[in-house]
Amino acid sequence: MPDALVIGASRGLGFEFARQYASDGWRVIGTYRAAADAARLRDAGVQALALDVLDADAPQRLGGALDAACGGRLDLAIVNAGIHGPRQVRIAHPPSVADFDAVMHTNVLAPMRLLAVLAHRLAAAKGTLALVTSRMGSVSAASTPNSLLYRVSKAAENMVAKAAHVELSPSGVRVLALHPGWVRTDMGGPSAEVAPDDSVRGMRRVLDDALSYPGGRFFDHRGQALAW
Ligand SMILES: NC(=O)c1ccc[n+]([C@@H]2O[C@H](COP(=O)([O-])OP(=O)(O)OC[C@H]3O[C@@H](n4cnc5c(N)ncnc54)[C@H](OP(=O)(O)O)[C@@H]3O)[C@@H](O)[C@H]2O)c1
Repeated sequence: MPDALVIGASRGLGFEFARQYASDGWRVIGTYRAAADAARLRDAGVQALALDVLDADAPQRLGGALDAACGGRLDLAIVNAGIHGPRQVRIAHPPSVADFDAVMHTNVLAPMRLLAVLAHRLAAAKGTLALVTSRMGSVSAASTPNSLLYRVSKAAENMVAKAAHVELSPSGVRVLALHPGWVRTDMGGPSAEVAPDDSVRGMRRVLDDALSYPGGRFFDHRGQALAW
């Protein structure tokens, strides 16, 4: 049975990833913060793990939980937890220090710290690591002034993905950055274009097909390659 980890699985895209992989027979560990979300994960057949990615001891606790659940190997890790922060941030409306720290710590620092725990486990399985970033983090595609803090954080997270590819591909780990589309979640809002199950099915097609979607690249949920 393959093992998957979904970081940030309480709701939205992360919950849908965890639900779909568990229903296809994978052993899935999904992380949550609010106790109320654990039961929903367990009902979906997911092993629920309490983890706030901002906690200083999050890497250590994640490592311990992975050792207990699936030993030294991991087939798939999806780093999905993210926040948007204030949408009005632009050059004329810079972020507060508190908002900057919250968004950058969640979207950039936390993945950087957690990848260290995942790397050797993914290498043992020749597994796949996916960071759910955003097309809003594409420097080449930037065309709107709004949500500047989020876009800066997702551009940095894209660099984390590319750097992880450079560092981990020699040990057989495939690393991808994924854009889920504009999806109807708490973050995407009710007017968004794509349903969470369609977005996740699309991203899973990318994850499942290592030949068509090689590591070190940035793909959307339809399998389109995106420019960094
Ligand atoms: N929806 C879109 O249109 C869209 C587009 C492009 C990219 N994305 C990216 O896709 C990912 C998932 O987005 P979503 O739309 O599903 O968002 P969402 O519905 O707001 O869910 C965000 C998830 O991240 C978790 N999270 C946030 N801060 C955390 C922390 N400190 N520790 C642990 N977990 C934390 C949340 O857990 P709690 O429930 O505990 O808060 C929740 O599970 C994000 O990285 C987002 O940037 C989304």
